[in-house]
Amino acid sequence: SSNLNTTAKSIKLLWGLIKSGWQADGRGPSIWDTFSHETGRVFGDQNGDVACKSYELWEEDLRSILQLGLTHYRLSVSWARLLPDGTTQHVNHKGVQYYNKVIDDLLNARVTPMITLYHFDLPQALQDRGGWKSPNIATLFDSYARFCFQTFGDRVKLWITVNEPYVCAKLGHEDAIHAPGLKEPGRAAYVVGHNMLRAHASAWHSYDAFFRPKQKGLVSLAINSDWLEPLDPDCAEDISATERHLAFTLGWFAWPVTFIDTNSRKHGYSSESRLPFFSKDEPPILGTADFFALNYYTSRKVTSCSGHSDILSMKSDRGAQEVLDPSWPISGVSWLAVVPHGLRRLLSYIKKNFSDPAIYITENGFAQVGSLEMEDVQRVTFYKETISEVAKAITEDGVNVRGYFAWSLMDNFEWADGYSVRFGLFHVDFSDEKRKRTMYHSGREYAKLILKYKWGSSLICPKQL
Ligand code: BGC
Repeated sequence: SSNLNTTAKSIKLLWGLIKSGWQADGRGPSIWDTFSHETGRVFGDQNGDVACKSYELWEEDLRSILQLGLTHYRLSVSWARLLPDGTTQHVNHKGVQYYNKVIDDLLNARVTPMITLYHFDLPQALQDRGGWKSPNIATLFDSYARFCFQTFGDRVKLWITVNEPYVCAKLGHEDAIHAPGLKEPGRAAYVVGHNMLRAHASAWHSYDAFFRPKQKGLVSLAINSDWLEPLDPDCAEDISATERHLAFTLGWFAWPVTFIDTNSRKHGYSSESRLPFFSKDEPPILGTADFFALNYYTSRKVTSCSGHSDILSMKSDRGAQEVLDPSWPISGVSWLAVVPHGLRRLLSYIKKNFSDPAIYITENGFAQVGSLEMEDVQRVTFYKETISEVAKAITEDGVNVRGYFAWSLMDNFEWADGYSVRFGLFHVDFSDEKRKRTMYHSGREYAKLILKYKWGSSLICPKQL
C-alpha cells in the first residue's frame, strides 16, 4: 500500500516489547510470570499472560512498523521462550522459528533489527538457582548469548545484552517493585549489578572472539539515566551530590566506579562485605561496549542529603535527594517530568565523559494515564521537542548520535503499572479478544518526523568506546 514507507533513510526507530503467549509453544515461565501472579504486586493484579498478543499477531505488528516508516526496530527476545529452563540443554525450536520469522520479515521489509537479550525476564528456573545474585549467572547468560549469536547473528548486527541493569538491580532486589520482588537494601542490588556487568562482559568477549570476525556486528548494554543537575548550581554540596548520583546510575555501568566504601566502614562492614570485586581471572569489563546505548526518560534536580538514615541502602549510600523542578510539566505518568532539553545535556555529558562515543538512544517516550485520548497532543509535543533537542545535540554540540528508538510501538504490559500506563504509538484495546491496534495521532506525527530528520546513513560504526 502506498502509505507504507520502508525506505526512509533517517534513523528513526522504535521498539515494542514482544510479549504474551506466556505458555504457548513450550515457553518456560519467567520471573515476571511468577511475580505478576502474586497478589498485590502489579496494578489491579494484572499480568502479562495475554498482553498484546505479539506472539500470535506478529504480522500485524509488522504492518504497524511499516505504517510508521521505521528503518529500525528494537525487540527483546524472551530467554525462557528460547531456552525454557534457561540452559542450552533444552532448546525450544518453536521459539527459534518464531524469532527467525520476525527477523526475516523485518529484513525483507528493509527494517534493521536490534535485539535485546535480557529485558527483566529471567527464566524462573534460573531464579530458583539463585538468579542474578548467584555468580554462576554470568556463565549461564554467556551460553544463552552465544546461542543467540550463533542462531540469529548471521542476520542481526545490533545487540544489547542487558537492558537497564540499574533498574533490574535496584527495583528488583532493593525496592521489591519489579520481579523477583526482593527487598534486601544495601547489598543485593550491588551484587546483581556486578553480576550483570560480568554477564555482559562475558557475552561481549564471546562475540568478539567467536562471532564478530564473521558476523561483524556490534554489542552493548542499555544504560538508563535521568539527566541530573544541582538544585542550587552555586552550592558545592549539591554539585557533588549530583556527581555522586550520576555515578550511581550511569557511571556504575558506564565505568565501574563506586562511592560506597566509606559508608560501609561507618556501619562496621568492610567494603568487600557489601561491594563485590572483579576478579583478575575473569575477562575484563572495561572496553566491552561497541557503542553507548542510552535509555532516557526524564530529569531531576539534586540536593545533598547526608546522614539521614540508619538503614543502609543504595539511596543512603549515594547521599543525594531528587527534587522536581516545578517548571517541568508532568502530564502523563507521575515520574515522567517532561524535560526534552535534559536529553541534549545528557548527550553532551556522555560525549565529554566517555570519549565521544557513538550513541544510540535506545529508549525514550511519553506515557498516557487515565482516560484514553487518541488525539494525544501532549505525546506529539513531547516527540517533536525531544527529537529537535537530539537534532541540536548532533548539529550544534557535535554529539555522535547514530539512532533514536521511541518507546514504544504499542501500549503494553507496563511492568508494575500493568495496563494503566500507555506508552504506545499504537493504542491496544485490551478488552478486545483480538487486541485491536489503532494508531494514535502521535503515530501519524512520528511518521512525519522520521521523514523530516535525516541523521546519517551509516549505522554500522566499528568505533569502540
Ligand atoms: C524499560 C521499559 C519500560 C519503560 C517505561 C524502561 O525502564 O526498559 O521496559 O516500559 O522504561 O517505564
